[in-house]
Amino acid sequence: MGLCCGLNFIFALLKRESSQLEIRVLREVQSQQNKEEKEFKCPIEQGNGNFADPVTCRRFYQCVDGFPYLNRCPSGLYFDDIQKYCTFKAEAKCGPLAATPTATTESPIDLARKCDQSECQLPYCYCNKDGTLIPKGLDPEETPQIILLTFDGAVNLNNYEHYRKVFNGKRKNPNGCDIKGTFFISHEYSNYQQIQTLANDGHEIAVETISLQMGLQDKGYEEWVGEMIGMRSILKHFSNVSANEVNGMRAPFLKPGRNTQYKVIEDFGFIYDSSISVPPSPIPVWPYTLDYKIPHECKSGTCPTKSFPGIWEVPLNAHFVESYEGGHCPYMDQCVLHNHDAEEVFAWLQEDFERYYYQNKAPYMMPFHTNWFQIKELEKGLHKFLDWTQTMPDIWFVTVTQALTWITDPKTNKQLGGYEPWNCKSKTTQTPKPCNISNKCALSFKEPTSNISDTRYMETCFDCPAVYPWLGDSHGSGIPGRDNYIDQSEGGPGSAASGRDQGEDEE
Ligand SMILES: *[C@@H]1O[C@H](CO)[C@@H](O)[C@H](O)[C@H]1NC(C)=O
Ligand SMILES: *[C@@H]1O[C@H](CO)[C@@H](O)[C@H](O)[C@H]1NC(C)=O
Ligand SMILES: *[C@@H]1O[C@H](CO)[C@@H](O)[C@H](O)[C@H]1NC(C)=O
Repeated sequence: MGLCCGLNFIFALLKRESSQLEIRVLREVQSQQNKEEKEFKCPIEQGNGNFADPVTCRRFYQCVDGFPYLNRCPSGLYFDDIQKYCTFKAEAKCGPLAATPTATTESPIDLARKCDQSECQLPYCYCNKDGTLIPKGLDPEETPQIILLTFDGAVNLNNYEHYRKVFNGKRKNPNGCDIKGTFFISHEYSNYQQIQTLANDGHEIAVETISLQMGLQDKGYEEWVGEMIGMRSILKHFSNVSANEVNGMRAPFLKPGRNTQYKVIEDFGFIYDSSISVPPSPIPVWPYTLDYKIPHECKSGTCPTKSFPGIWEVPLNAHFVESYEGGHCPYMDQCVLHNHDAEEVFAWLQEDFERYYYQNKAPYMMPFHTNWFQIKELEKGLHKFLDWTQTMPDIWFVTVTQALTWITDPKTNKQLGGYEPWNCKSKTTQTPKPCNISNKCALSFKEPTSNISDTRYMETCFDCPAVYPWLGDSHGSGIPGRDNYIDQSEGGPGSAASGRDQGEDEE
């Protein structure tokens, strides 16, 4: 067992190393580093490689062209400064030790190529030159207009009733089913009974991260695994949402984690990412797979540069109107509509929407934070817009996964009446009904960076955990660093299937 896991971890490390080496081409991108990282200076004379963190043996830095990426050893393991990887405590020589020359492995830079439509075929691959073409060459007239309502962050008392008013049970799709949305959940302050209700109602539950930490785009593989797979595990453990229903990911602050985040998506069996924003453009972009180069400018500067075959990107097209009144924004609540009344907000949304509806019918994504719902006129304007869409025969509010299912095998408006994947009658959701009365847990919480203990309240239909769940301890067991998603997987992290099993939880 010890041998298997140690080797698997080394394997993971080597894989990651090669996937991060091309970050050099993004060198000009200056990122906000947190203090710890600023203080660590890569020893230039030693080149690329792993270096002990002077503060703790549980972490190490991976230097790529003089740039330090902070990594944590998986639970129970320590960084060995001689062999330069994480291993069992008894075997680890904690550093930093006097400089020993390290082998610097150079790997060829394998950047994604330009879209080759002859090689890229649905259902596995979708690309075109500027990303604006309708799949399967459907005519816009016969293409359904998809609207993706997405909500980011914690779900709790501040927003839950507002979200329920959007999904009020009266608004229907053309097939008579209730309209649906997608929730990208972050952990802190979330209410897991409410999340379970949303999942049971047929909305899609996806992950943002546990901690919403800043600067995650510059962190290493373990950090992304801890945030994403940890969040998936929390949803399973406290909302009964099965890991194989959690297909999607959105990076906090729309800062994708370069190739590292997409490697995690690939290794742990996610289907799509929705973190990449598209600058304002006259014709909106359809979702595409990451087999090839992304077909538009990367605004964040931290998009993946390698090919990730079959992984879908559901981009955030910029919202704007022709006059640029209100500016342009990926999140609806980032446009400046605060001095608009409800009618004006409605008119603004309509004009923005018509750029899709009267052109290429690209899915109209409406990404929200709680903020939108804190301003009455914005909320009212949204309700006016949603009611107006009910008068149109070809507008569908579906989850991101339902939209992708359609894209892989497009159907015309006429064929959608009995289209099974968008039907609500034939299937029930996997997430069971939540309890009527949840456990209201008051839990102690110590942020790793501070020594002050705090209390967090968490509601769930499950038993209260010992402490507030957090990075490295998604069950709230009280044993920091208990989680280990990497060195236990049978096939190593390269195997999506085993990654999926890991996410499903240990029990
Ligand atoms: C919850 O409440 C509803 C209505 O009051 C009731 O029909 C249902 O049986 C209750 N469910 C549970 C699990 O107690
Ligand atoms: C906790 O933090 C305070 C300041 O934030 C410091 O003065 C104190 O020494 C710390 N205590 C421990 C046990 O680290
Ligand atoms: C979670 O779901 C399983 C079935 O999927 C069910 O047996 C179990 O009772 C559920 N647990 C809670 C606390 O709702």
